[in-house]
Amino acid sequence: MVRHLEREAISFNGHPPFDEVVNAFKDQSIRSPGNDKSIASFNTALLELLGSDSEAAAFLADHYHARAISPTHFVNLTFRAVQFIQLYVEQGEDHLAYRYFDASDHWTGRLKRVFGDHKETLSDILRNKDTVTTIYQRYAGPRAIIGRLFSENGGLRIADLGCGANHGLRGIDLEEPFDPIMDETDSKSFSQSLSLPISIEDALAVDSENFENPDANAWYVACSFYPKELDKVKNVRELESRLRRSRRVRFMQSDLLEAGLPEPFHGYFDAVILSTVLYQHTQINQQRIKEEAARIAKKGGVVVMQDFAEKDSSFDSGIRFTEAWFNGFRYRTFLMRPEDPGEVLEVLKWSDGRCTHVRPGEDYSKVF
Ligand SMILES: C[S@@+](CC[C@H](N)C(=O)[O-])C[C@H]1O[C@@H](n2cnc3c(N)ncnc32)[C@H](O)[C@@H]1O
Repeated sequence: MVRHLEREAISFNGHPPFDEVVNAFKDQSIRSPGNDKSIASFNTALLELLGSDSEAAAFLADHYHARAISPTHFVNLTFRAVQFIQLYVEQGEDHLAYRYFDASDHWTGRLKRVFGDHKETLSDILRNKDTVTTIYQRYAGPRAIIGRLFSENGGLRIADLGCGANHGLRGIDLEEPFDPIMDETDSKSFSQSLSLPISIEDALAVDSENFENPDANAWYVACSFYPKELDKVKNVRELESRLRRSRRVRFMQSDLLEAGLPEPFHGYFDAVILSTVLYQHTQINQQRIKEEAARIAKKGGVVVMQDFAEKDSSFDSGIRFTEAWFNGFRYRTFLMRPEDPGEVLEVLKWSDGRCTHVRPGEDYSKVF
């Protein structure tokens, strides 16, 4: 973990003041992720606590300064830490009642316990964890693009870098269906491509964490669901048990910023997916991860990037990260060809990171 902290400290030049964290808490008390009322009321309650309890305020500020992570990341991390405590540490019949909270006073008793009995757990998470979600539905975009470009080719090789709990490639391999998608593309060409057959010869999923490990798995559950979505945990557990049947997807635990993938993988893959991994990184590290993706793609292959970002030619990378997690169509799917890394195509726009509503991006017709 020291290694991780060093990486963050080096990565961030100029750490925004704690006031910006407070502003982000305010923002999320009004516009909460997924419009979730429990998260909105949590953020209001936390702001009230920061105003009335100088010890709690100092505790959060100290943890924020120790990490040198972005204010938004810290704010998301704080709610997820509290959700982890509700799910796995709090005991008693009503430990899941927070799902239905919609007023700040509902949180008062919980927050007292979080900053009291559970302070050590909170501190451990705020010091050591990053937010990690895994959403199979996000792989609909990359799957449709791969179907469109490579359906005629046999024996595809695909990599997923920053795969989280490795649902994407295993689900695609087993033809696990996606949830319904509202498709605004011409003649529903997106949905047609999604159903074009592909044949996988070899697939590699890479992440710095192994989510088969029970602790890492518990943390990813705490991160992946809004309180109002917790009913879906059961479905995801069932999905995970089906995914264990996949035999063509290898998993490699590796930090993409520490060691490149071994030489046999250079120029090996038809498609390399980077789904919702770059936004967590600074520009320099985004570039390093993209270069690694381009290195392992073969000639004629593609890198499919998907993130909270928009096309912007004034940036060297061709895209600008927006951190606009919740509002309209800022979660997008991009395509890059390793032979021409300067040209980034914006292929798809999604209503949000849950990927149930798609529109064509400005370069849609260059791919579909
Ligand atoms: C937000 S999750 C996205 C998971 C999945 N791709 C999805 O879209 O649902 C980002 C994942 O990237 C992984 N990650 C971030 N930086 C990484 C790095 N330097 N090397 C390997 N994995 C990394 C994290 O561990 C996490 O599992």
